[in-house]
Amino acid sequence: MVYAIRVPKEDAEKTKKKLVRSGLLDKNWKILEDGEFIIFPVKEEIEGSEIYELPKRSGKEQPYNKIVKKLRERGIFFKTPDKWEKIGDVVILQDFGADEFIMPLIGEVYANVLNAKTVAIQQRISGEFRENKIKIIWGKCAVTTHVENGIKYHLDLSRLMFSSGNIEERIRMSRINMANEVVVDMFAGIGYFTLPAQKAGAMRIYACEKNPIAYYYLIKNIKANRADNVIGLYGDNRRVCPANLADRIIMGYFDTIKFFPYALKYLKEDGGTIHYHDLVKDKNPKSLIQKLQSMAHSQGYEIHNLEERIVKSYAPRVWHMVLDLKIVRK
Ligand SMILES: C[S@@+](CC[C@H](N)C(=O)[O-])C[C@H]1O[C@@H](n2cnc3c(N)ncnc32)[C@H](O)[C@@H]1O
Repeated sequence: MVYAIRVPKEDAEKTKKKLVRSGLLDKNWKILEDGEFIIFPVKEEIEGSEIYELPKRSGKEQPYNKIVKKLRERGIFFKTPDKWEKIGDVVILQDFGADEFIMPLIGEVYANVLNAKTVAIQQRISGEFRENKIKIIWGKCAVTTHVENGIKYHLDLSRLMFSSGNIEERIRMSRINMANEVVVDMFAGIGYFTLPAQKAGAMRIYACEKNPIAYYYLIKNIKANRADNVIGLYGDNRRVCPANLADRIIMGYFDTIKFFPYALKYLKEDGGTIHYHDLVKDKNPKSLIQKLQSMAHSQGYEIHNLEERIVKSYAPRVWHMVLDLKIVRK
């Protein structure tokens, strides 16, 4: 007997990621399919959990135990990361400060156990293009294809980021009813939110991207997902986006406020919806909202039906938030 939560199949992927990330998934028991539901065993009583009788997992070893065992066989006894991100067939580890010469040995073990072609250490994401920096310790390159929510994302992780922490927001975008809407994604990247919006039934999407490498993958991903109603626009969104035609605008960036007046210009005359992302201290977007309100007023708009969501923790006391803003002509 074990505590478990039962969720509809369409929520299974998101729930699993959440449980894995929070360390709550109990891997000693099997995950069970029950008609249109999936039952996930959890390590402790949590909201919505009940006691279930689930089959025990066979004596199959957990990946991290296997990694530790294999490292020991090679004479490596210090602690290596017990968490990782797997994006496509690339495993990314947080820096754990091992000596250079030993890294390839460790990388090879992670690659074998986790069935990856490349293992890398995360360094930093920086600059206007939010470029990824990783250090490959095993394998040759970090070009990969990640499949999530039925969407294919081709990308080169040595140049471009893929934020696992944004998974819920990507899935949320794919579930909003966007039928008959024209959408502008001002910071499209490789299609992080563009492709979910396409899945959400948007009629036409203008996806704007300034970084040539991200743009290359955006176009590749539009083709790979047969998203024929997505129009890639290469260049600075302050210049290349079409004005007065969007029902909905996605602003998936940080320090986004200087782009807000442009978003208002791209909305249809009578307004629409803006998904505004930014970093916020202490989960408190009050002063940011005030600034957005006054910018909207100065262009003859009001902000209604505001919804605030936390996407993820970004740094101590700093949160990545998204504000759903309904913009209405005054
Ligand atoms: C990497 S994405 C942000 C993360 C993404 N929202 C996610 O879900 O992971 C931001 C993208 O905006 C692009 N960008 C930054 N400034 C821009 C601008 N002025 N015009 C067009 N694209 C821009 C960057 O090159 C980058 O690819």
